[in-house]
Amino acid sequence: MPKLDRREFLKLSAALGATLAWGCTTLHPSKSGWRERRDLYPQGVASGDPDDNSVILWTRRPYEDGRKGAKLLVEVANDPAFTQVVATTAVNVLPESDWTGRVLVGNLPAAHEFWYRFVDEEGNGSRIGRTLTAPNPDDDRPATFAFVSCQCLPEGYNNGYRRMIHEDEKASPEDRLGFVLHLGDFIYEVVQYPDQAKNGRYDRKLTFPIKYPKGKVVAKNRFWVPDSLEDYRVAYKAYLLDPDLQDARARWPFVCIWDNHEISWNGWQSIQEFAGTNGWVAGQRLKVAGNQAWFEFQPARVLPPGSKLDTFPAPKVQDVLLKPSDFDDTGLGTEPNNLAAINSLIIYRALRWGRHIDLLLTDNRSFRSRDPGNHDEINPLFEGDTLGFVPEEVWGPVDAGRAFNGGNPPAKLTMGDKSVDNYVAKAAPQTMLGATQKTWFLDQLRNAKATWKVWGNSLGTLDTRVDPQNLPPEVGTWKGKGYGLASVYDWGSVWHERAEIYDAVRDAGMTGLIIVAGDRHSFWAGYAAKALPPAAFEPVGVSFVGGSMSSVGSAEANEYTQKKENNPTRGLYIAEDKDGKPQATENLMFRHGVRSALEYANSKDLQKALAVRNPELAPHLTFVDNGGHGYATVRCDADRMVTEFVCIPRPIARAPGNDGGPLRYRVRHEVPLWKAGERPQMTQVVVEGDVGLSV
Ligand SMILES: [Fe+2]
Repeated sequence: MPKLDRREFLKLSAALGATLAWGCTTLHPSKSGWRERRDLYPQGVASGDPDDNSVILWTRRPYEDGRKGAKLLVEVANDPAFTQVVATTAVNVLPESDWTGRVLVGNLPAAHEFWYRFVDEEGNGSRIGRTLTAPNPDDDRPATFAFVSCQCLPEGYNNGYRRMIHEDEKASPEDRLGFVLHLGDFIYEVVQYPDQAKNGRYDRKLTFPIKYPKGKVVAKNRFWVPDSLEDYRVAYKAYLLDPDLQDARARWPFVCIWDNHEISWNGWQSIQEFAGTNGWVAGQRLKVAGNQAWFEFQPARVLPPGSKLDTFPAPKVQDVLLKPSDFDDTGLGTEPNNLAAINSLIIYRALRWGRHIDLLLTDNRSFRSRDPGNHDEINPLFEGDTLGFVPEEVWGPVDAGRAFNGGNPPAKLTMGDKSVDNYVAKAAPQTMLGATQKTWFLDQLRNAKATWKVWGNSLGTLDTRVDPQNLPPEVGTWKGKGYGLASVYDWGSVWHERAEIYDAVRDAGMTGLIIVAGDRHSFWAGYAAKALPPAAFEPVGVSFVGGSMSSVGSAEANEYTQKKENNPTRGLYIAEDKDGKPQATENLMFRHGVRSALEYANSKDLQKALAVRNPELAPHLTFVDNGGHGYATVRCDADRMVTEFVCIPRPIARAPGNDGGPLRYRVRHEVPLWKAGERPQMTQVVVEGDVGLSV
């Protein structure tokens, strides 16, 4: 692909509204007089969304002397000593953007390493950052990146980033990471103040409290959440003081999408919902504020309509409570303030990295329809239920609405001796993407030309299927007819829309689909298939979920919530090994079935547990660790893809030293590129450490 010439780049930067720097061919030593003053740039530096000739650079330089704005100089060089400067330009930092500044630097050589820094008019300089440009689209070199998610800083540590930096510094240049893909929950907008968490939460102490200048109390006084733009900004500013996160942003370009916590815990479109609060909370104002703060603190190739990179043109919206009648047939809330809020920043986008990666990024929160499992009408089915699983035969009609069973949905939803009217019999299938984004996404998928098509997705796609029909009666009585689902909120249960996507992949004869996701606070690996046995199991790609960087996972929560007394199902989730150490039998339940989990809980003998596995349960899963934290890496070349889960111990204290601390394990999932019509095949190697009950 030919490089953009200057005129085309000007067009691009105008489209991005960018302050731009134009790389030049004559190199010169720095003349800026830069003296490092990290204290004046407290959130460090960052870079984002590189392509093969440009990258966005970011910093924050606050002033408290009442001035109306300032200009910084950015320098980009071939060397960390800045003796070969390739580009310089001025960058505006303005109070209306909370003193953050972004600049698009273009005309850079592809597949190249650069150093950059900002300097103010007095010569006070930021720390030095390092960034990379993507290889050309026809460049055959292997492509490598890391993916991360879910960093809850007030109650955990970013040891995973420290480990990632350590490993990257040790690696040979050709094995180093090209970028870090952040799949959401970069911040957690839900915080606890010390008086709300006197005893901490699970293994965690509240070590880094965040206080909102305004804020509002939710969930029966259990949490605070933002109530203003400044509140969201405060969260980003606090998180970016963390040295591990800040060093990671200064070492690699980041490619970021949001999940829920960048805006609102149970938010969808511009609506907020909180446990303990009746009904929906109008959130148009806060959706715009959350979008604006994301724009200000994440350097990304996104543009609010009609804006410049300097400032975010926040639309004036009012908080208007949406009614069910405000939604169109696709599930989109057409109330004007809702539309203005959710369209105030579009983050779904595509990036190319060399010959081997087309990266497609989706937004799973701003356009999704109302969660059909979140209607009160379904509740009577679960009265008296002690297991907490959702029967597959109930969920199918709930998810697909009027499209279920070829347009013949059942009139009733039934579970055991209880039934309710099918309240979604006339509704469109639930959508995670919304109509406009889905059209874009399917188009991008069909036209993706790279060897591997990587769907960067905040939410996991692998079914959380369980087989409670195999429970012994003394453990519990299952009211469903067959399999159940342990959770119904992510792509693992958005079956109708997921099938549309997977069918498009199949129908296009596409190979090389890799899905990477976050949010579950656990490591999962397996196959992307729209259905499981006894239906036809026909994977069209491979799918991964990365463990959380620091947030609490279910294995940790189970240690506190699964009481030993009067709890017949405890063995499905947790058991102590011979030394009394907690073991996540939940991993066995998902991979091998309830009998395997219970057998292990009883005998502590993994071989015995595997001898009673249910081979039909989970052909889509090859690995589950609900207790894992850390990050994952992906390496793609012309013939194969290798994903490694790099699992660290529970990050409840900052690891001493510079290596991020020890590993729990490193496990490698390897997938040769399959041919059209073939099935992907994944093999696993435990490279080091102990994966416990995960395989
Ligand atoms: Fe999370």
